[in-house]
Amino acid sequence: MNSQNILLGVSGGIAAYKAPELVRRLTERGATVQVVATQSALEFVTATTLQAVSGRPVRSSLWDPAAEAAMGHIELARWADQVLIAPATAEFMSRLAAGGAADLLSTLCLASEAPLTIAPAMNRVMWAHPAVQANREILERRGVRIVGPDAGDQACGEQGLGRMSEPDAIAALMFAGEALPGRQGPVRPAAISKSRPLAGKTVLITAGPTHEAIDPVRYITNRSSGKMGYALAEAALLAGARVILVSGPVNLATPAGAERVDVESAEDLYKATHAHIKGTDIFIAAAAVADYQLQQVAKHKIKKSQVEISLELTRAPDTLASVAKLSPGPFTVGFAAETTRLRDYARGKLQNKNLDMIVANQVGPDEGFDKDDNAVEVFWPTGEKSFPKALKTELARDLIALIAERYQERLNASTQPDLPALSSRP
Ligand SMILES: Cc1cc2nc3c(=O)[nH]c(=O)nc-3n(C[C@H](O)[C@H](O)[C@H](O)COP(=O)(O)O)c2cc1C
Repeated sequence: MNSQNILLGVSGGIAAYKAPELVRRLTERGATVQVVATQSALEFVTATTLQAVSGRPVRSSLWDPAAEAAMGHIELARWADQVLIAPATAEFMSRLAAGGAADLLSTLCLASEAPLTIAPAMNRVMWAHPAVQANREILERRGVRIVGPDAGDQACGEQGLGRMSEPDAIAALMFAGEALPGRQGPVRPAAISKSRPLAGKTVLITAGPTHEAIDPVRYITNRSSGKMGYALAEAALLAGARVILVSGPVNLATPAGAERVDVESAEDLYKATHAHIKGTDIFIAAAAVADYQLQQVAKHKIKKSQVEISLELTRAPDTLASVAKLSPGPFTVGFAAETTRLRDYARGKLQNKNLDMIVANQVGPDEGFDKDDNAVEVFWPTGEKSFPKALKTELARDLIALIAERYQERLNASTQPDLPALSSRP
């Protein structure tokens, strides 16, 4: 258990009703939580409830002589190892962006050197408003970590992007153990535990299909839904990693805390991966990247004037092979989706591309793509393991555990020169 001091700021959105659950999720992970609520927040959730779950009186006013005498606001700002604002209203984001200090919570945010994470929650139209997006950008540039919002049903009866991320996901992120970006130094390092074997590690995951343009309106793609890659991102976050998710076009919500980079084509995916690969410990290539792209993309829509047309294709860049060639490079995991001779092709790809591990799955009309479950065979240079059919979310957790184990072994082997290396890669 890790005993962080977390200052939880609750601002006045409808999602404040989730704040008591968030306190529980943080305290059960070992945190000491001090709640600071805005006046508006107390219209949605009572100080009594928040005090009962946190075990500490809730602070809400700058002008409270008794509270100031017990722990002044500057002292409170120094006490925090991390500051989390959940939910963060549009109004609170604007105060943060402007550097306002008219109330206790915004004053604390200015006075604290602790890493700041916010979980915005608001109506989807509010979230999409240029003013809110401009504030988001300012905060991001300043190193504030922004979790969510998620897509889904909203309290106002609408559907869209604006829901606060789930308390469990936010809490898991607060314990990710990585050095957070921004003004401050690293979070007090979390103990590497069995449940968080990737704490302090950066994992880059590619997910989804690619679109290879034929002309301005048409493209070639494949049946990948991105579900496996997204499940792996979620599992890696829960294992404590910082996750960069390079995603092809999919219809999935970003896992809370993942840094998502959207791409379209194999070429984009190659560039985005290489732009973020430096400092990455583990690379998981779960995207179904096109092997071929158009030799020449038509500038204008191809007209239906001929009976037959031919499309000239050429090899698309091979991101996986290029990352596997990096030296020093991350622990590299490939995926192979095959319709026949699964084991042979997978073992061949492991060897030819010089990977640390390959996850192979049989695809066909009822298997693999766009399904919620999957069965896979995993191979690495010195072993293999079968995973029977399971939900992709469960499978992802098992795969991340295995990847963390093999990664650690490679690390141990490279720091013990007398022992034979498990992988031929450095
Ligand atoms: C019923 C109701 C629900 C609201 N829900 C939200 C919300 O989800 N997100 C938001 O940004 N503002 C919401 N607001 C508006 C905020 O409460 C308002 O902007 C307030 O000034 C925020 O103050 P604070 O940021 O100091 O907590 C809501 C207001 C009402 C009356």
